[in-house]
Amino acid sequence: MDRWIAPGRVNLIGEHTDYNDGFVLPIALSLGVVCAAGPRTDRSVRLTSAQRPGEVVEVAVDDLAAQRDRVPGWARYPLGVVHEFVCRGHPVTGVTLAIDGAVPIGAGLSSSAALCCAVTVALRDLFAPALTERALIEIAKAAENEFAGVPTGVLDQSASILCTAGHALFLDVRAFTAAADPEAVVAEQIPFDLGAAGLTLLVADTGHPHDLADGAYAERRAQCEAAAAALGVRALRDATEVDLTRLTDPLLRRRATHVVTENARVLAMVEQLRTGMDPRAVGALLTASHRSLQADFEVSTPALDLAVAAAMDVGAYGARMVGGGFGGSVISLIDHDATERVIAGFAERFAASGLSAPWVFAVEPATGAHRLV
Ligand code: GLA
Repeated sequence: MDRWIAPGRVNLIGEHTDYNDGFVLPIALSLGVVCAAGPRTDRSVRLTSAQRPGEVVEVAVDDLAAQRDRVPGWARYPLGVVHEFVCRGHPVTGVTLAIDGAVPIGAGLSSSAALCCAVTVALRDLFAPALTERALIEIAKAAENEFAGVPTGVLDQSASILCTAGHALFLDVRAFTAAADPEAVVAEQIPFDLGAAGLTLLVADTGHPHDLADGAYAERRAQCEAAAAALGVRALRDATEVDLTRLTDPLLRRRATHVVTENARVLAMVEQLRTGMDPRAVGALLTASHRSLQADFEVSTPALDLAVAAAMDVGAYGARMVGGGFGGSVISLIDHDATERVIAGFAERFAASGLSAPWVFAVEPATGAHRLV
């Protein structure tokens, strides 16, 4: 069987902005999900995962929707992709899929989109070679939203498909989703080379997993929609800081404040990177993003706040939680030479709070989903 890989992501900035038609700026990780795949002619899907030894899921291609509630939760992501291909009329004659994921689950690093995207690019090459990148993203997102039942935006799938090595991906989500031409990819690859400036981006996975299917994420989405409706705008992307004063409900005002200020922070960071400014300068935007996610959007946790505080105490230029929140990971921008000191700082601060040390690793912008040769 041939193999394909799709990466997880770190979103540098632009959290909870994607489903508000806003801006995001992710990089792909070198950690990814590998999918070995081979075509079958018996109209069945045979699915295994290295992370679920001994478990084999077999479902008929024509029976996927009916079997959805009977298969294990993890299997809904890959099967959702197969289902989406079938629904779109692609000639899937059956497929064997063997998954091996290296992206930690629930760490805010987009393991589920990596899984869906790995299967999506595999099925493209086996059954639908003409699919555009836009279509790949839509298929992977639909699998997660409709078959796995997790109401994500388009950030994770876009990052996993479109990111390139050495770059951050600046995506205007409204322009991307509204582009009339299906070939059009409204994204800008922005050079992102921290090493040249003597810097490192560290991920600290707190080991407290989140579960985006649990309702709090959907609740935030609904609150953003309610705030947009109260302001009479299509999406919070269209609201300004002045508009915020018109929101009388304090909760909706806090949620909208995060989205409006976060979009501004993405644009500010993009501008700083485009003009080749010292990347240390973006640290303040990272920390401001965290404060906003903590106080206004209320998706941080004590462990995430502790990790941010620990990073800042040992000299990080900026730090923030990444992904949907309610658990997961923190990124911090540090001097490369300070890596050991920062890792020790995390361990010390977590031990003092009775928590086990986070798993810390450095990340560099890697390439998007592709076939392995
Ligand atoms: C999760 C979702 C994304 C995005 C982020 C928050 O990762 O899958 O679509 O909304 O949360 O920025």
